[in-house]
Amino acid sequence: MKTEKNKVALVTGANTGVGFQIAKALAENNYTVYVGARNLEKGKNAASQLGENAIAIELDVTVENTIKLAAKAIEKEHGLLDLLVNNAGISNAGTRQGTMEEMLAAQMPSVASISEMKAVWNTNVFGALAVTQAFIPLLRNAPSPRIVNVSSGLGSLTMNQDPSNPYRKSFDVVYGASKAAMNAITVSLANELEGTNIKINAVSPGFTATALNNFQGTESVEEGSKEPVRVALDESGVSGQFTGPNQEHFPW
Ligand SMILES: NC(=O)c1ccc[n+]([C@@H]2O[C@H](COP(=O)([O-])OP(=O)(O)OC[C@H]3O[C@@H](n4cnc5c(N)ncnc54)[C@H](OP(=O)(O)O)[C@@H]3O)[C@@H](O)[C@H]2O)c1
Repeated sequence: MKTEKNKVALVTGANTGVGFQIAKALAENNYTVYVGARNLEKGKNAASQLGENAIAIELDVTVENTIKLAAKAIEKEHGLLDLLVNNAGISNAGTRQGTMEEMLAAQMPSVASISEMKAVWNTNVFGALAVTQAFIPLLRNAPSPRIVNVSSGLGSLTMNQDPSNPYRKSFDVVYGASKAAMNAITVSLANELEGTNIKINAVSPGFTATALNNFQGTESVEEGSKEPVRVALDESGVSGQFTGPNQEHFPW
């Protein structure tokens, strides 16, 4: 139900996958949720499934004007933002066909296409930061503002150096390194915002079956959204942390 007391959240890339489940959980927790979508029709379709607490908003994290307009619209309607979930992400530039393994092989540092790397980083790194910058003024107006960056265990440099980690061979420069960069930005921002009431954390949903990995992930979107949702809803939690799907602390 929509009430005066509803907190306000924005989830980027919320028309499908993990982002849709995060938006669903927030709507169920009486947040007014802006369902960010680069294709507004897809966003409207998703929002219509989430009930009256959900509002579709056009937001392509790589297009400055859509970020600006989204921030203006939320400012006009609410004057603040309680929660920003930077969820939008891509694993490749969509220019190649193949299995997940073939895609990964093409994204290794010795052979990766620099233009594909730029396209993915544009969304996962620069897009997430651009959205964050645009919404910080609105977050500052909220009583307990939070930013959740949806990262990946693949972005942990420490885990990628651990010989016992079976996933370390999947640490590529197109996607994996983009999540390491997102993690670096999370730490940088947490340091800058220290002493303010804005909290920022990174979370990994775990290996979740979505379009991102041709639905080869082993967990459901319900499972994958659990940790992002837990951190998103935690108003009294910490800042500058990186956690995994079982609430475990991941090293940066
Ligand atoms: N699935 C996993 O195993 C896994 C593991 C670790 C981390 N993650 C992270 O979880 C997040 C969600 O991914 P997912 O697995 O749910 O994948 P997904 O189902 O492919 O969803 C990705 C979402 O991001 C949107 N998006 C892509 N580029 C965008 C842009 N430029 N502007 C705005 N939205 C954009 C997509 O929109 P369209 O529908 O229009 O394409 C879609 O809504 C990503 O950050 C991903 O890196 C996923």
